[in-house]
This record gives sequence, structure tokens and C-alpha cells, in this order.
Amino acid sequence: MTINRQWLLSKRPEREVGPEHFEWVESAVPTPAEGEILVRNLYLSFEPAQRGWLNDLPSYVPPVALGEVMRSVAVGRVVESRHPDYRTGELVQGTFGWQDYIATDGSGMFPINRVPEGVPLTYPLHIYGLTGMTAYMGMMLIAEPQPGDVVVVSGAAGATGSVAGQIAKRLGCTVIGIAGGPEKCRWLVEEVNFDHAIDYRAGDVAAQLKKLCGNKVNVFFDNVGGEILDAVLANLAVGARVALCGGISSGYTGHSLPPGPKNYMQLVIRRARMEGFLVLDHFDRFPAAIDEMRQWVEAGEIRVKEDIVEGLENCPQTLNGLFRGRNFGKQLLKIAEA
Ligand SMILES: NC(=O)c1ccc[n+]([C@@H]2O[C@H](COP(=O)([O-])OP(=O)(O)OC[C@H]3O[C@@H](n4cnc5c(N)ncnc54)[C@H](OP(=O)(O)O)[C@@H]3O)[C@@H](O)[C@H]2O)c1
Repeated sequence: MTINRQWLLSKRPEREVGPEHFEWVESAVPTPAEGEILVRNLYLSFEPAQRGWLNDLPSYVPPVALGEVMRSVAVGRVVESRHPDYRTGELVQGTFGWQDYIATDGSGMFPINRVPEGVPLTYPLHIYGLTGMTAYMGMMLIAEPQPGDVVVVSGAAGATGSVAGQIAKRLGCTVIGIAGGPEKCRWLVEEVNFDHAIDYRAGDVAAQLKKLCGNKVNVFFDNVGGEILDAVLANLAVGARVALCGGISSGYTGHSLPPGPKNYMQLVIRRARMEGFLVLDHFDRFPAAIDEMRQWVEAGEIRVKEDIVEGLENCPQTLNGLFRGRNFGKQLLKIAEA
């Protein structure tokens, strides 16, 4: 009998997430009912938002319930189809969870999509999916960089930040990335063409930014919040746009939130705008934006970096690693060969 291995949420984490918050279950592979497909998961996607889904708090999606398979976007192969729209052997993407197999009718929180022909199997999990689209929508619709602008991106070596900065770069902006550690900073400048990189672990971000471009930041695309947000607010140009994409420095624990930005009065002094956004509000724009992104990637104008760990047993630690900067580029986990 083939086994289906699953991680079920067993306890809500207070702070960092680990294996102790989940139960490892092995059971028979489900049989698809009429109208369902059986999917064999191949790669799981890891997002900081998954930590937020473990808190029993109202949010833009319901929390993962105790006893439920941990929610996760994944790509997999249809190994059996009793659904009129899918054939056995097709590659699909959906919210398939931390498990080997899922029987699904395709309904659920996020729709199932086919992996398009001719794209690397994992790209719909990031550059042609959630993180690529987050970078695209946040930059193009909220931050609106103009040629010649100084654009600062935090979380710059991550899946979203690295793409956000490269979008601004191809629009003719001067791009400064903020990331943790010399290796990530070197990569940003030498391989993805950022103009400068600031290692926030190496000291005072506000002072480093002031030296590079004091009071000249036209756009800030923020993935981090907290002290880094304050440091950039202190260096805004008149008329700046601050696009709030995420606040990972809070740990997304749902409690003991950090104090609000000390420097928010700079928004008044600099007549600046700060606006949060959720990529899920822009689903209707995804097809056109993915086409455009695909042209940029295939032309080599946007570079993509993946960080792939292996083994379903490593899911909890891999999720926690996002909050410790262990990932370098988009965090994926491989479960099985395609
Ligand atoms: N608004 C939306 O619709 C939307 C959609 C998707 C994602 N997001 C947000 O986008 C951000 C990036 O997500 P992602 O999936 O692309 O993840 P990611 O950037 O690939 O990975 C997370 C990165 O955050 C950095 N980080 C972790 N803790 C930090 C801290 N205390 N201070 C500074 N940096 C820290 C780490 O890089 P370092 O090594 O540089 O520390 C880590 O690699 C997150 O805030 C996420 O919530 C928002």
C-alpha cells in the first residue's frame, strides 16, 4: 500500500514554529471520488504568511484549524483523474498542503491551475505566482516608480524583494536593497544589478542610507517593518511612496507586536504616502502581468533564485527558517521527483 504522509496542525505556536506544533500522520492514499483528481505533490512553496495562518485571529483568510493538514501552495502531478477537466499526468498547482497526496475537486481557497507549457515546473510557485505577482502589483500599482527615482527594497534577497528591486531597475531607477549578511548583499549588487546593498545586520541602516542617499528615497517597498521601516522613513524624499508589502520582523506571531513607526511624522513633513496592499486583490490582472513577467525573465532582465530543501519531514523547520533568513531566494521544498 502506498502511504500518504501528512503534517496536521496540533498546537498553535506562540512564537517560533517547530515540529512540536504538528502531528506527523501516515495513512492510506485517498481514493478520488467522482469529479475529483488525485494529485501527487512534488514541490511545496513556503511563505511567511503561513506563520500568520497558524494564529487563531481574524485575517484575510481563516486560520488553519487544529487537526487540519497544514495549508500550503504546491505543484503536483495528477496521478488519477475522475474530473472531466483534468487528465492523468498533467502538472497542476493548487493549495495542496503539507502532504504527499490530495484528492480534490479543485474548489477551495485558491483555484487549481495547470502549469503552463514551457515554464520550469517550480516557477508558478513564485515568479509566475504569488511572490512575482506581489512584487509586480506592489511596484506597478502602489509604489509607481518613475525613471531616475531612488527605490529602496527591504527583504531584498528574498523571493518578493529581489523581484521588486529588479522591476524598479528595469524602469530606470537607482535601486538600494536591504538584506541580511554579506553574501546576500554581494549577490544583489553583482548578480541582480542592484546599485547598492545595505547589510542590516552590520549596523545602523538609517546612517548607511543617509550616506548613500539622505532624504532622497522616492519609493520604499517594505517587506520587513519595525526598525528598518523607521530607518527608511527618516530618509524619504518629498512626495515619496511607501508600499507596505509585509512586516516579517514582527514574526507574524499575532501578539507582542512592535510599536508603530516612530518616524511616521516624516510622511507629513515629506508629503509622502504609505499604503498597504494585498496581492489577492489583483487576481484579475495576473494573466497579463504573468505574460509580461515571462518576457522579462526569458529575456534575462529578471533573474530568479530558488532555495530548494528536500524532504516532507523538514516542513516545520523550513517555515521557521524564513523568519531567520535561512532562505536565499524563493524557499521551496521538494517531496518527489517530477
Ligand atoms: N502583501 C502581499 O500580498 C504579500 C504577498 C506575499 C508576500 N508578502 C510579504 O512579502 C515579504 C517577503 O515574503 P517572501 O515570501 O518573498 O519571503 P522571502 O523574502 O523569500 O523570505 C523572508 C526573508 O525575510 C527576511 N527576514 C526575516 N526576518 C527578518 C527580520 N527580523 N528583519 C529583517 N528581515 C527579515 C529574511 O531575509 P534576510 O536574510 O535579509 O534577513 C528572509 O529571507 C513578507 O513580509 C511577506 O509577508 C506580502
